[in-house]
Amino acid sequence: RGQSQLDFKTATTGVAAKAMRNELSSLVKSVSDTQTKKHASPNSVWDHIKSPSEDQIVPYSKLPSGKPRNLEKLAVLKVNGGLGTSMGMTGAKSALEVKDDMTFLDLTVRQIEHLNTTNRVDVPLILMTSFNTHEDTLRIIKKYANQQLRITTFNQSRYPRIFKESLLPCPKSADDDKKNWYPPGHGDLYNALYQSGVLDQLLAEGKEYLFVSNSDNLGAVVDESILEHMVQSQAEFIMEVTDKTKADVKGGTLIDYDGNIRLLEVAQVPSEHIEDFKSVRKFKIFNTNNLWINLKALKRIMEGGELELDIIVNPKTTDDGQAVLQLETAAGDAIQFFKNGHGVNVPRSRFLPVKSCSDLLLIKSDIYRIQHGQLVINEQRMFESTPVIKLGDHFKKIAQFQKRFKKIPKILELDHLTVTGDVSFGRNVTLRGTVISTYHRMMFVALVAYAECLVVANEGQRIDIPDGCILENRLVSGNLNL
Ligand code: UTP
Repeated sequence: RGQSQLDFKTATTGVAAKAMRNELSSLVKSVSDTQTKKHASPNSVWDHIKSPSEDQIVPYSKLPSGKPRNLEKLAVLKVNGGLGTSMGMTGAKSALEVKDDMTFLDLTVRQIEHLNTTNRVDVPLILMTSFNTHEDTLRIIKKYANQQLRITTFNQSRYPRIFKESLLPCPKSADDDKKNWYPPGHGDLYNALYQSGVLDQLLAEGKEYLFVSNSDNLGAVVDESILEHMVQSQAEFIMEVTDKTKADVKGGTLIDYDGNIRLLEVAQVPSEHIEDFKSVRKFKIFNTNNLWINLKALKRIMEGGELELDIIVNPKTTDDGQAVLQLETAAGDAIQFFKNGHGVNVPRSRFLPVKSCSDLLLIKSDIYRIQHGQLVINEQRMFESTPVIKLGDHFKKIAQFQKRFKKIPKILELDHLTVTGDVSFGRNVTLRGTVISTYHRMMFVALVAYAECLVVANEGQRIDIPDGCILENRLVSGNLNL
């Protein structure tokens, strides 16, 4: 709390720096005190938290259908300030080529161009960048400069990392190394939109609704029924949520807190209630971060200085082993400040993010094809579900992924793929049924029960799946003559 009163941009040297350091230290202390209090008497807070009521989460099937009527009042915004550190990226994740030589950004541009030409409207694309992603983003959108689609970019804030021990800021000056700074989460969207003048610009153009989503969510296309529902229900804020599966335990969820709708993130949950939070029974849905925002309401809230998002303390360790803190906020947390804010429970297909190289393999594969920038399941896929892909640590970073797949295998008839250890795939490989590649003995013992074929090898070996190889229901383990 009180984050907005700090001027991180100017106060980095001399007297101003001292004042900022003191202010920062007391801010971090107050945030951790609040969190300690929560942790000390978790039940007093937890007891107020309930599953949301039925009218707080509207099923997608109940939304109005029919001709889109309010598209000319819509703008689309992608939050594009993150790096995708979990995939080892150092530039904008949205600059990654995901399909048919197109990046996330290229696909988004195609989607909106299609929306505009089909409906004869002029929906603009807005990109929120950070100091980490600005240049990559400009490089990609340069090629659209002479197209009809209007693309606007604005930069989010840059905050100083804080040493965990001393609670002092890491950077010594405004131009200190990049590694001492961070973009403070997508919750920064509101301040950055307002401060940059983009909010006023959109309102002046007659735009009233903003559809926000993560730049890596390939399922987040404009949905006219949700827009229409927003207009009809006069909701100032809509969060698209979707049914949780066992794999989605970490996503934030909507809760009822004393009759008010709120977002609850895993970082805010006391450790003794983490299992409750993860349970699919108590909290059935999670936040996709596809958000629909009424721009006039946003302006009112910003002018009233009411938007006080909860600060999430994100502990990190620097490359040289120092413990630091980042104070971040989440965009969905703003739901509590808007009138009639609620969730809409959307189909899973609207949440198709690329969070790992396993996700990337699926997206790049023949399971999907592109239609007007949108991913659609290949009609030749016989099963309803997509394959479950688990690539091990050797495929964690994007560079490793690119090195280990000479070409993306054909997986149209695949159910499960598990790869652990030092494995590389040649060209024109086909995987069908359940395929497990490993050199770990333990894995082998555990999996032998349901694999049809198996070959045993010693630990520590390397497996090269040769060009043109077809693997169907195989357990591949080291020394293999394929
Ligand atoms: P995440 O931080 O949840 O996911 O951001 P990520 O990009 O996969 O990053 P890692 O792998 O966890 O590091 C979700 C969305 O919010 C944007 C990101 O660009 C992404 O689209 N984001 C995140 C911002 O725009 N600004 C931020 O400060 C943080």
